[in-house]
Amino acid sequence: DPGDAEKGGYDHFMLKEMVEQPKAMMETLMGRCCESGVTFAGLKLNTEMMKNINRIQIVACGTAYHAGMVGKYYFEKFARISVETEAASEYRYKDPIVDKNTLLIVISQSGETADTLAAIRLAKERGAWVLAVTNVVGSSIAREADDVIYTNAGPEIAVASTKAYVTQVGCMMMLASFLGELNGKMEKAEGSRICHGLMMTPGLIEKALETQAVIKAFADKNHKIYDLFYMGRGVDLYTSMEGSLKLKEISYIHSEAYAAGELKHGPIALIEDGTIVVAVCTQENVFEKMLSNIKEVKARGAHVLAIVQEGHQDIATEVDEVWVIPEMDDDITAIPTIVYLQLLAYYLAVARGCDVDKPKNLAKSVTVE
Ligand code: G6P
Repeated sequence: DPGDAEKGGYDHFMLKEMVEQPKAMMETLMGRCCESGVTFAGLKLNTEMMKNINRIQIVACGTAYHAGMVGKYYFEKFARISVETEAASEYRYKDPIVDKNTLLIVISQSGETADTLAAIRLAKERGAWVLAVTNVVGSSIAREADDVIYTNAGPEIAVASTKAYVTQVGCMMMLASFLGELNGKMEKAEGSRICHGLMMTPGLIEKALETQAVIKAFADKNHKIYDLFYMGRGVDLYTSMEGSLKLKEISYIHSEAYAAGELKHGPIALIEDGTIVVAVCTQENVFEKMLSNIKEVKARGAHVLAIVQEGHQDIATEVDEVWVIPEMDDDITAIPTIVYLQLLAYYLAVARGCDVDKPKNLAKSVTVE
């Protein structure tokens, strides 16, 4: 296969790109994130302009949409600005409330997604300021936006997005912190804490990649499953949603990601003896709540795999399997945690003999509607 050389010795582009994530994240943070806070060289958006902004919308598709959900969470947490995150295919057809006081943030790996591009055009017609977060220099989205932040992840070939996602999330966190400082809602010390946390992420991703053998063993044992549930609270919900999307995309296993507290309002009816539930529990403020949700699904026979930070290993008495991630600032867990879920999706797909880099029915970039 002529493409083999480009895979640099890896079986798949997806694996190569997952392994490249520490470097990609470093490139994203470089020159922007330092102990004193975040700067974006060349960004036109400034304090004066922010004074006139009374609405922020984040619009994207697929994996980038999930980065947008994490973005909303941290814009609200750090900058105390309320944000709507919406799929571009919905936004463009619903006569959105958008005017000259709106900041529209679009996220797109390729910079060519048709629905996202249409959302930009609609918002610009109505006077909005458009800031694009994209990976491809000179792409249509980069050209049409008023401002651009490049993710700098390097080329992504595999259909299932991995390094683009972690760098999009990194950009969202930096942007949230940047806007929090611009609008005076965030203390300088908070900005430093977030930057400090972000600078740890390349090393933390490295640690996640070192657990491949454990994840592969889990996948080899469980690849015959027909569905899988993910649950989380707070930012762990969005990590769950992205993990679930990865799994569907490449392994064709049906899966759902749910807000842990919502399980009892429906999906818990689907839990049977042996159903695997991945409980993402990286957030201290809702840890006890996650524990009670774990007990609820265990009582229905679920086989629970919990992901916890170091220090919470004792959850092992409550669940069937634990993956312990290093201890870290709760506000950056979205970045390293997704890597475990990417690897889980990858090794389940490989164990099932799926064509990981070219999943059926999917395209890398959807440039026609
Ligand atoms: C396709 C790809 C996804 C991607 C989505 C949005 O569906 O398969 O991986 O997340 O498009 O693409 P974009 O290039 O706009 O991020």
